[in-house]
Amino acid sequence: MTEALKQHIAVVSQTVDAALRDRFLPPGTEMPTSVHEAMRYSCFAGGKRARPALVFAAYDLCGGTAGDERVLAAACAMEMFHVFSMIHDDLPCIDDSDLRRGRATNHREYGEAVALLAGDGLCLKAFELLAMAGDMELVRDVTNALGTDGVVGGEMVDTETEGKQISRDTLDFIHTRKTGALIAVSVRCGARLAGAPEETLDRLSRYGSDLGFAFQIVDDILDVEGTAEELGKDVGSDAARGKNTYPGVVGLEESKREARELVSSAKERLRSFGERAEILNAFADYVLTRRN
Ligand code: IPE
Ligand code: IPE
Ligand code: MG
Ligand code: MG
Ligand code: MG
Repeated sequence: MTEALKQHIAVVSQTVDAALRDRFLPPGTEMPTSVHEAMRYSCFAGGKRARPALVFAAYDLCGGTAGDERVLAAACAMEMFHVFSMIHDDLPCIDDSDLRRGRATNHREYGEAVALLAGDGLCLKAFELLAMAGDMELVRDVTNALGTDGVVGGEMVDTETEGKQISRDTLDFIHTRKTGALIAVSVRCGARLAGAPEETLDRLSRYGSDLGFAFQIVDDILDVEGTAEELGKDVGSDAARGKNTYPGVVGLEESKREARELVSSAKERLRSFGERAEILNAFADYVLTRRN
C-alpha cells in the first residue's frame, strides 16, 4: 500500500470511527440495549473501512470541499450497510460463520434474534444518514445496490447454489452483486455528493464495479491462501460449505489473472483524471496485494 493511501485510510478511519461512536450509532446504554450493543460490537471490531475510504477518495477527486457533513454521513452509512450485510451473511442460515474481524460473529456473541435485528437496525439507521445528505438520486442508487439486483440478489444466488455446479455467468452474477455493487455505489456516492457530472459518475461507477468484482475474487483467493490470523475470519470455509468461488470454478492461477485484469481495467477508467486519481489508483493496486 502506498504511503498516501495509508494516510488516507488512517484519516478516514479516525473520522468515521469517531462519528459512528459519538454521533450516529445509538449508545449501547439506550433501550433496547441488547440491539444497540450488538450494532456497536460489529461496527467496532476493526474493519478496514474500505467503503468509507472510497466515498471520500471519489469525493476529493471530484472537487468536494473539506468538512462537508453530507459526505461524512454517507461514508458512515456505507460502512453500516456493509456491517449489516456481514452480520446477516454470517448467520447460520447463510454462511454459518463463527469468526469475523478477529472475534466471535454477532450471532455467536448475542444470539440469532439479536443479530438479525442488529443488522436491520444498522441498515435502517444508515438510510436515515443517507436521507440527511438530502439527495434522492443517491438514495435510489444505494437502494438498487442493496436490493435484489445488488447485495440481496447476490447473497440469494450464492446461498441457493451452494454445492451445485454453476456457470461462469452465474458466478459473476453473484460476485458483482453481493460485493461489487456496494463498493461501486460507494465510489459513485462520493462523486455524486461532490456534484460530478453524469459522464464522470458513469466512469467512476465502472471503476468501482471492476474494483468491487476484483475485491470479491481476492476474498475467495484469501479463503484458500490466507490465514485466520491475518483475515480475522475462518479460512477454508468456502470449500467446506460447497460455495462456488473463483478458485473453485476457474482455478487459483486463473483467478489471480482475472483479478489483475479487472484491476487494470479499473485503473484504465481513471486515466483521464491523471495525478488527481492517485488514491483511487493506489486503492486498485492494494486490492491485489491485500492480505486481509
Ligand atoms: C469482507 O469485506 C467481505 C466482502 C465483501 C468480500 P471487507 O474485506 O471489506 O471486510 P472488513 O470490513 O475489513 O472487515
Ligand atoms: C461477501 O461474501 C458477502 C457480502 C458482501 C454480503 P462472503 O461470504 O465471501 O464474505 P466473507 O468471506 O464471509 O467475508
Ligand atoms: Mg457469504
Ligand atoms: Mg461469508
Ligand atoms: Mg469470503
